[in-house]
This record gives sequence, structure tokens and C-alpha cells, in this order.
Amino acid sequence: MSAVKEKESANLIAPIGADSFSPVPLDDLLACPACGGDLSSAQNTTEGDFRCDNCAAEYPGITMPDGSTVPWLFVHPDAAFAEWGDRYNRLMHETRDETASYVNALGGDVSSLTRARLERHGTALEAFTGQLEELLEPFDLRRRTTENLARQQLSKAQTVTSYMANVFRDWAWGAEEMHASAEVLNELICQTSLDDLGTMLTLGAGPGALPFLLERSQNVARSIKLDINPLFARIHAAMQAGEAVDLYEFPFAPLDESNTAVLRRLQASNLTDQNCGECGGGYVLGDISDLPFRAGAFDTVLTPWLIDILPQPVDRWLVTVNRLLQPGGAWIFTGSTSFVSDDPVLRFSPEEFFERAQAFGFTIEASDYSTLPYLHSPASAHRRYERVVSFVATRTGECADVSGVKADRSAPVPATTAMQFACSNYMLRAQILGAVNGKRSISEIAAAIAHRYELDGDAALQIVEQILNQHGE
Ligand SMILES: C[S@@+](CC[C@H](N)C(=O)[O-])C[C@H]1O[C@@H](n2cnc3c(N)ncnc32)[C@H](O)[C@@H]1O
Repeated sequence: MSAVKEKESANLIAPIGADSFSPVPLDDLLACPACGGDLSSAQNTTEGDFRCDNCAAEYPGITMPDGSTVPWLFVHPDAAFAEWGDRYNRLMHETRDETASYVNALGGDVSSLTRARLERHGTALEAFTGQLEELLEPFDLRRRTTENLARQQLSKAQTVTSYMANVFRDWAWGAEEMHASAEVLNELICQTSLDDLGTMLTLGAGPGALPFLLERSQNVARSIKLDINPLFARIHAAMQAGEAVDLYEFPFAPLDESNTAVLRRLQASNLTDQNCGECGGGYVLGDISDLPFRAGAFDTVLTPWLIDILPQPVDRWLVTVNRLLQPGGAWIFTGSTSFVSDDPVLRFSPEEFFERAQAFGFTIEASDYSTLPYLHSPASAHRRYERVVSFVATRTGECADVSGVKADRSAPVPATTAMQFACSNYMLRAQILGAVNGKRSISEIAAAIAHRYELDGDAALQIVEQILNQHGE
């Protein structure tokens, strides 16, 4: 039996996707990611669609093909465009190079089976660049200059195609596993006194299927999703609008010869035929490190598969979630608790994580450890089951801010081993890249490096080649 609380507005049915969400003003929720001042939709500004009432910073809204707007709320909006432009251009470049390598390989002496695979994969890669180009067109990333790149602010770990498998799982083939995840959360919510999720924020929403399902099974007044990756915002907008998007999936471990590249059709109806009740919302692009929301703006915060992938210590995110919630608001956590840190104290077990949450003003109302299928692409030989930790907690107390921004700036920076290693790594890279002047050969650069670092010749050659390959155009 489905553990879904009866929705009050179940008769307000719209066709799946299209028109099920109306644009909803976000002004009462938004805050300037730079200074924290109130942010309003700007009618009369020269450039920005959102404007800070305090510091006058302006932020653009990106118009999606269906006419909806995705606010671009990064602290330095131009620098974020430059960074995403850089990532996008790199991806295009690399994919074109890869396509060329498939075409070139056809010139060799290969079997007819290999030939068929090379042809199919090369054609799919070429189509994939076109598909991404079209999808990301509203962000105009191709034309963004790199003049702002010096101001890098975003985590390098997130690229255009990070978590790409989630796109196909959410909107092509993963209905079963998405419903299983949603069902765990619905069961948990049933065990609490929570009747209404009110204004809900999903952090690190990705392509957005999980909140999409919760909107359809719970009472949600408004559902706001935030992620750092523009591709997810675009795909989510298309799904919301009832569009179909064709995109190639390249499974990491193809099941067989015919599954090395598979054309998928992403659409909301692959996930569910349930319609949303009267519930509005939107997708916002921004960085969880500088969130564009007012304190206490949300009744519910959902963090699916997010907290343990973030590089900062978990305490920081406990403060963040606490700050976003109204007193008594609900935090819904689901995902893994594989906390990675240089500091062994911070590699929390699930039990320590719960203890930590309690110390930061949360009361755990219900929890669950279910083993669920994870990314079971029908085209892939790799399939995982994960024991997923989920809980619903209420915000029952406040907590002190421990964010890195408030660190004592006059204290000495500890010279950790990781810091020293990073330093010598960067110095070596800088020396190799700085030696490139259009005249020196690989051997000459390697000889200079070998001399300076007392390396043997072959090792220096290998290092120089590796670093030049990583940075070469
Ligand atoms: C493991 S995925 C989970 C996606 C989705 N919640 C799900 O369950 O499928 C992590 C998500 O966090 C997003 N993310 C990573 N770093 C972020 C940041 N600094 N700010 C906002 N989102 C971030 C990624 O783009 C990605 O969508």
C-alpha cells in the first residue's frame, strides 16, 4: 500500500508536465547571495532580472524555451557564466576530439563488428554534441568569454556532465528506483506529524525527479529546486513543460555491443502519470556555499544524495539547513553518509551524523535504512544496491554559525600535508606550463624539470607529457 497522505487538492489535475506548475513569485524567499539582502524581481533595471534591495547587485533570469525563467543567482554572475562557459567549451572540444578518434579508427584494419561499433558510437557522439548545444542554448555559454575566469568560485568537481546517469535514471528508465526512493520518504513522513510540506526547497536537486514525485504524493504549496549545474535546470524545465528531450546515454559498462550508445527519450511520463495538485515552484541556479535564500524561508528542506558529496565539513551544512528552515520546519535527508575528510574525526558514521544533527538543533522524528537499487541502467552491466539512510528531522533549536567564511582570518593557516602536496604539485605544473613559449620542445622542458627536481630523464618526460596533455587544446 502506498504511504501517501491524502492530498487536499487531488482534483486539481493538469496534464502531466505542461501547465501543472504556474510561475510563482519567489520574492519572499530570495536573498542576495553576495550580501544577504532581500532580492526582488526587478522591473526597471538595465540588466538584471533580480536586484538586491541592499547592495544593488543584479542577477539575470534565463528564459527557457517554454517561457519560464531560471534565476542565475551565483555571487558573481558573470564569473559563473565564464566558468560554465569554460566547462562547456572544454566538453565540446573533448567530445569532438573523441568523435574524430572514432572516425580515424575506422581507417585501421578492424573487424566488421568493431567497425559497426565505431560507426555507431562516433555518430552518437556527434549527435550528442548537437543535443547538448541545443539544450544549453538558452544560457548562451558558447559565447561567454573567459575574462572573468580569474575569479573562479565554483567547485571544479562539478562539470556539465557530472551525474549524467541521474538524468537518464530520473526521466528515461529509472521510474522503479525513483518510486522506491519516494516511497521510503512517504513512509517516513507518515510516521511523523507532518501533514503538509508547505514551501519546500530541494538542495542539489539534480534533474529533479525525486522532488517531482514528492510534489505529487504530498501536500506541497511551493517547490523550489536549487542546483549548480545549468544542464539540470534546463532538463527539469523541459520535463515540467511536458516536452520530450532526446539525448544519448553512454553507459560506463555497456551490457553488450548494441548498448555502447543508446538514444533515450527523456519525458515526465516515463516517471509518472500522476499530476501535481495546486503547487507552484521553480528551479534556481546557485551554489550551496552562497545560497540565495532568506533565513527561515522554508517549511521543508530536502537534501537528496547531497551532504556527503560536498567537500566542506558536515557541520557547515547542518547550520545551512537549520538557517533555511522556519522553527519547527522539517529536514528530509536521504542518500549515503559516506563522509570523506582529511580529518578522521569528520568521517562520521550514520550514528555520529544523527548525533551531530541533534547537536545542531534538530530532533530526528523518524529514520530508515533501506537497501535500494541505484542507477540500474538497462544498458549497463554495472548495477548497485545501496543501503540508503533517510530521516525526517524537525528544527527544534537554533545553532551557531560555523561556516568557513567566519573563520578567524588572522590565525595562521595550518601547513597540512595535503596543503604542501598541493603546493608542490601546482609549482611543478606552473613551471612546466610557464616553460611553453612556442619554441621549446617536450624534451627541452623535461630536461629543465629533471635538473630542477632531480628526476631521471624518463620520469620527467612522462610528467611533462602528462601535464601538457591535460592542459593542451
Ligand atoms: C549526487 S548528485 C544528487 C542529485 C539528486 N539530488 C539525486 O538524488 O539524484 C549531487 C547534486 O548536487 C549538485 N551539487 C554539487 N555541488 C553543488 C553546489 N556546490 N551547489 C549546488 N549544487 C551542487 C550536483 O550538481 C548534483 O546535482
